[in-house]
Amino acid sequence: MSKTSIIMDVDTGVDDAFAVLFAAMHPDINLLGITCVDGNTNVDQVVANTFKVLDAAGAGDIPVARGAVRPLLGKSQYAEYVHGKDGMCDLGIAPSHRTVDPRSAVELLRDLIESSVDPVTIVPIAPLTNIALFLGAFPETAKKIHRIVLMGGSASAGNATAAAEFNVWHDPEAAAIVFQSGVPISMYGLDVFMRPTIDREEATTMSKSAKPSSQFAGSLALGFMEQVKTDPVSLGDYGALALVIHPELFTTEMFDVVVDTSAGPARGQTIVDRRGAWLKQLEPLDLEDSAKVRVALDLDVDAVVKLWLKTVNS
Ligand code: RIB
Ligand code: CA
Repeated sequence: MSKTSIIMDVDTGVDDAFAVLFAAMHPDINLLGITCVDGNTNVDQVVANTFKVLDAAGAGDIPVARGAVRPLLGKSQYAEYVHGKDGMCDLGIAPSHRTVDPRSAVELLRDLIESSVDPVTIVPIAPLTNIALFLGAFPETAKKIHRIVLMGGSASAGNATAAAEFNVWHDPEAAAIVFQSGVPISMYGLDVFMRPTIDREEATTMSKSAKPSSQFAGSLALGFMEQVKTDPVSLGDYGALALVIHPELFTTEMFDVVVDTSAGPARGQTIVDRRGAWLKQLEPLDLEDSAKVRVALDLDVDAVVKLWLKTVNS
């Protein structure tokens, strides 16, 4: 299989770490660079956490750039109750010696897309602030994006609120800009997000491994279990990477999707129109604001988990 060239946009947190570790280690992924954004924790902490993951992966010199310090309109709202104060369950993981790229996130996105000889897939697993800013700052380069495979949204219930998933809820205006951009989008949302998991037994075995990547992932998963008081815990954002390189493991369908940017209780909801054409006669979604999005509805959980375990323990 030829390599897939990707750029990740992250708010490293625990499950972003599971995803970055996988992307940096999988032989079929060419990780061109990583952009960091305000989300689970502040953007400087996101940069520091992302470096730690690249160290654990034994990754080469992958450029990491600092992006938006806050959403387009709203204020930062961190998910410390989920990821801990430092975004990585406050495990005291040794800081990295890596240094942040001198370019901003939008400049790194532009340069990597312009210089790539292969089609580039953007994989945001965080609030979409950086991506929205990039689309507005460099529209000609944006036209060269092959596709966006994002972790975000939901065709069912929310997690940040009853209606909205955290990444979209954190910056609904940015999400609306991205969804309406015209770039082909696949959505790895909450309908599948929680299903690939790791349990205490697997995490404990990994945490005792001599392999830095296994030890890092296992310890982080155990720390996550303490933080959220559940076992097993979701591999979360990682699933979006599996959707990129193994779409055959997923059931997806195209739907019209609109992001609610109102101030009401549904703010940040991805409204996924699952009605058939006959019902839509009454009132179709406003096609000005909606987009046709490939939504993940189901997956081969066992295969997706095995793919992650095989890669991060390799
Ligand atoms: O709703 C889940 C998303 O919010 C994940 O990307 C997680 O890392 C948090 O950012
Ligand atoms: Ca994330």
